[in-house]
Amino acid sequence: MISPVLILFSSFLCHVAIAGRTCPKPDDLPFSTVVPLKTFYEPGEEITYSCKPGYVSRGGMRKFICPLTGLWPINTLKCTPRVCPFAGILENGAVRYTTFEYPNTISFSCNTGFYLNGADSAKCTEEGKWSPELPVCAPIICPPPSIPTFATLRVYKPSAGNNSLYRDTAVFECLPQHAMFGNDTITCTTHGNWTKLPECREHSSLAFWKTDASDVKPC
Ligand SMILES: *[C@@H]1O[C@H](CO)[C@@H](O)[C@H](O)[C@H]1NC(C)=O
Ligand SMILES: *[C@@H]1O[C@H](CO)[C@@H](O)[C@H](O)[C@H]1NC(C)=O
Ligand SMILES: *[C@@H]1O[C@H](CO)[C@@H](O)[C@H](O)[C@H]1NC(C)=O
Repeated sequence: MISPVLILFSSFLCHVAIAGRTCPKPDDLPFSTVVPLKTFYEPGEEITYSCKPGYVSRGGMRKFICPLTGLWPINTLKCTPRVCPFAGILENGAVRYTTFEYPNTISFSCNTGFYLNGADSAKCTEEGKWSPELPVCAPIICPPPSIPTFATLRVYKPSAGNNSLYRDTAVFECLPQHAMFGNDTITCTTHGNWTKLPECREHSSLAFWKTDASDVKPC
């Protein structure tokens, strides 16, 4: 009498003998995945290599069938990172980067007098696009300055349409009979506002001088 276990076992051996040798777990290929991934495959079983998101293949086969020899064919698939559009030049600014490939991040800065309109860094995405969109360096501008009471603008020349550019200056003067407190010159700052406005005050001191003038003895 033959035990059922033995029958099972011998049929397994027969199967292996007829079917040939199994293939091992396929080699890891950088930036790729294998479907289905198992520890061994029967001859005739098919696997598919595909590049991971963000990577693309330049030629090479993708599908392999486990041969009777149990040895996977040589895989020539090469998965390389996607390359985002060139972004090495930022007008009126600078870009810091190593490469423009997925999954790298590049960063931006602007020259003095300009501000970053947009994000200060961008990442090359799986789709090969910059995210967020690339910024621009826009000139820092100051709106026309407000005018202190009892003052007039003596020197003012908007250099950007109706606005002024970073480091532009404007000069105030006080109306007659008024004295200036603070700096008569204001400057457009990197924040897009002007430095502190001066104040013009009535010459109350004149009245003071008049009343007290009699007390002042000439030298
Ligand atoms: C300057 O301001 C005036 C009045 O607000 C406006 O009509 C004109 O279009 C502005 N010019 C520029 C270049 O923005
Ligand atoms: C007034 O402001 C100008 C420009 O902002 C600066 O160069 C100058 O030193 C200031 N003067 C004084 C007395 O603070
Ligand atoms: C200009 O703007 C900056 C930043 O918002 C602020 O800290 C500063 O006080 C402002 N300067 C003046 C003179 O208002």
